[in-house]
Amino acid sequence: MRKRGRLKKRPFLRYFFEKPFSKGKKCGILSEVVRKGEFRVTVYTHSVAETEALAEKTASLIHAGDCLAFEGGLGAGKTAFVRGLAKGLGLRGDVCSPTFSLVNEYRSDKLNLYHFDMYRIETADDLYSTGYFDYLDTDCVLAIEWSENITAYLPENTVFVKIRRIDDQTREITITGDERFEDSGD
Ligand SMILES: Nc1ncnc2c1ncn2[C@@H]1O[C@H](COP(=O)(O)OP(=O)(O)OP(=O)(O)O)[C@@H](O)[C@H]1O
Ligand SMILES: [Mg+2]
Repeated sequence: MRKRGRLKKRPFLRYFFEKPFSKGKKCGILSEVVRKGEFRVTVYTHSVAETEALAEKTASLIHAGDCLAFEGGLGAGKTAFVRGLAKGLGLRGDVCSPTFSLVNEYRSDKLNLYHFDMYRIETADDLYSTGYFDYLDTDCVLAIEWSENITAYLPENTVFVKIRRIDDQTREITITGDERFEDSGD
């Protein structure tokens, strides 16, 4: 017989301990309760392929209307994560940094993903010119690189993805969000 409550648990660890994560390297997953209703998981990846795989799996927790805000310096792996995310959301197309276009769109019958680069955004007027505010009330998924430049304008329930470069190949990826990111503990 199943234990009561077990079905409610989210088998989060499973997503990240599956292949292709490197064996024998730093690969523990740290899970924290930030505050009531807010959870944080930290995962280490050891190649761009692992980051993309992590993002592809994370996509299964993402739904229409979500906003993912990325933080992390140049070359941290934000675009790599969005590439995996798009794949996991079933979207086609080559995902590259929207450095010059400011926003790239990936569409399907089911879901649209808008991928922003806020690197050069300094003022609210700059932000208006990207069309960002028009996308906020739609049911598309937003993925925002350099979100630290628009912190005041991020919607409630934003999922934060912070990527820290540890060395050439290793990244510490911290995802903070609602109960979807609660660890099952098993
Ligand atoms: N574990 C890893 N995860 C992601 N990228 C990695 C990893 N290890 C090495 N890399 C390399 O780091 C770079 C990440 O590039 P990416 O374009 O994704 O960064 P970014 O954060 O989007 O940078 P920018 O702010 O310039 O847009 C790539 O060259 C990739 O090969
Ligand atoms: Mg980028």
